[in-house]
Amino acid sequence: MSLRIRDEIRKSGYLFCGSYRSNDSIVEIAEHFGKPLVPWEDGLVQTLVPRTEAAPNSYSGIYGLGHFPFHSDLAHWRTPPRYLLLRCITGYADVPTLMIDGHDLIDAVTLDILSRAIFKPRRPRDGSVSLIRLCEPMDDVVRVRWDEVFLKPASRIGEVADVRVREWLSTRTPTAVSLAKPHDILLIDNWRMLHARSQILPGRESRMIERVYLEELH
Ligand SMILES: [Fe+2]
Repeated sequence: MSLRIRDEIRKSGYLFCGSYRSNDSIVEIAEHFGKPLVPWEDGLVQTLVPRTEAAPNSYSGIYGLGHFPFHSDLAHWRTPPRYLLLRCITGYADVPTLMIDGHDLIDAVTLDILSRAIFKPRRPRDGSVSLIRLCEPMDDVVRVRWDEVFLKPASRIGEVADVRVREWLSTRTPTAVSLAKPHDILLIDNWRMLHARSQILPGRESRMIERVYLEELH
């Protein structure tokens, strides 16, 4: 991957490229950028389509075609995937992916509160409950996670942070990036950016996006 791309994602937390490498598969593009990861069996490439009916414990099951809340992906995992790569198969300019910078969240709510805010998955995984913090200082970055559906506060400061994060998010104007044309791609730093799918407008039900997670960039 080029230095320009690496610089761009470090600076902005995401990278959009229009009509990128149209002859390559998303797996080839993911391998070009870094190291793809398989989050669950047969899950290397996930195809995202709007659904009105889905499992009750999923975003589609709860929100259907409506605006999804801001979140980072797999926030209830001990180590969420570092990056997600989205690629347009069928897209629309008026169904953008919305993003909010976790650095701004830290500025607003403070690293002190976020790194002491203990949360737990809303549903235990494999019978055990793991406690996690909204912010964790890593080697060279601070890892941010947020998911108001799948995480819930598990401490007093967690409850304070929960209220503050929700309030702050409701005041923000997000960055909107549309995967509008086939082969448009969006690479997102999932340890930094919160993202959300916007509402699926009538006539836009055929939207189709591919997703691959990456554990690191080259
Ligand atoms: Fe997501």
